[in-house]
Amino acid sequence: MPLPENFKAMVVSETSEKIFVREIKQRALSELPGGELIIEVQYSSLNYKDALSASGNKGVTRKYPHTPGIDAAGIVVHTTTKSVAVGEQVIVTGFDLGMNTAGGFGQYISIPAAWAVKPPAGLSLRESMAYGTAGLTAALCVLRLLAGGLNKDQAEVLVTGATGGVGSIAVGILAKLGFDVIAATGKTGQEEFLKRLGAKGIISRDEANDTSGRPLQKARWAGVVDTVGGNILATALKTAKYGGLVAACGNAMSADLNVNVFPFILRGVSLLGVDSVEVPMRARNMAWQKLASDWRIDLDGDLVTECSLAELEPKIAQILKGEIRGRVVVDLNK
Ligand SMILES: NC(=O)c1ccc[n+]([C@@H]2O[C@H](COP(=O)([O-])OP(=O)(O)OC[C@H]3O[C@@H](n4cnc5c(N)ncnc54)[C@H](OP(=O)(O)O)[C@@H]3O)[C@@H](O)[C@H]2O)c1
Repeated sequence: MPLPENFKAMVVSETSEKIFVREIKQRALSELPGGELIIEVQYSSLNYKDALSASGNKGVTRKYPHTPGIDAAGIVVHTTTKSVAVGEQVIVTGFDLGMNTAGGFGQYISIPAAWAVKPPAGLSLRESMAYGTAGLTAALCVLRLLAGGLNKDQAEVLVTGATGGVGSIAVGILAKLGFDVIAATGKTGQEEFLKRLGAKGIISRDEANDTSGRPLQKARWAGVVDTVGGNILATALKTAKYGGLVAACGNAMSADLNVNVFPFILRGVSLLGVDSVEVPMRARNMAWQKLASDWRIDLDGDLVTECSLAELEPKIAQILKGEIRGRVVVDLNK
């Protein structure tokens, strides 16, 4: 099938007054980078980082005009490599997609073949984007905790930013694996949502945010998935049990971490860094396999909402304020 000359995309531009404006408009296919693959995107998803890119954060995206979208799932429509054929389905998350390479908030992307993941059996393109980077990151956090020796007989596991994308999927996976999950959230009225995901208990964001200044606090957690950083990550380290494992993947609260060494040298606590952007293919494929099979969570319930490109605008402002619950899938055919 011949490729179209133009396609629909969100385009973020910087005005002469240094204001960033977002429009849904036609882009020329010829504007895309000359990657090995051209993919017709069926679904994308909204992540916190997309909202940063969409609002002019130069730490994420240096040059505008730009099409955000760090996630894309679609069908290969053009290839210059034998490793991927036209007609194959692919998932693309991370690397430079949506940062300085035009991303999944457009109906076509052009990428190196090395960024493409073959969807595991049984996972539809829509489901892959219901997980998206958030799900991949949650799975990588759980893989790190299990590799460190976390087992469900030890103690409770804390998930912070629990109603967010990474947090809610981490709650779901850990509960499915039989852990006693305690969800920390700043939102009120989300107890039922978190319990449906499998949380055994819920604590407030304030309770997860110790401001006493003490170097250690009562030990409670065998493991932690922290999606917010800052003083909540510091508190998680101070309240981890002896030998506790703390997987850190986010900075929704802050990128700073002010702790002393006592959790490490008196309780043998481990801080495990998790990155989904450059993670090697082997771990990436393993995480996707898990998400599609024994770690699969319910993606049909109220975890996922769907929208069109045009309906993304208010959701970008919402996710920046920490107000989105669960995951937002973007349907590029709408
Ligand atoms: N390392 C990686 O590769 C990687 C990959 C994906 C995401 N991330 C990072 O992980 C974090 C979560 O991403 P996401 O896509 O899940 O975002 P998200 O859907 O917006 O979730 C973030 C959650 O954090 C909580 N939160 C927001 N602002 C906060 C604040 N000021 N203080 C404390 N908690 C706050 C909120 O949950 P509650 O209301 O429930 O508290 C919010 O829903 C982001 O920092 C993102 O950049 C990193």
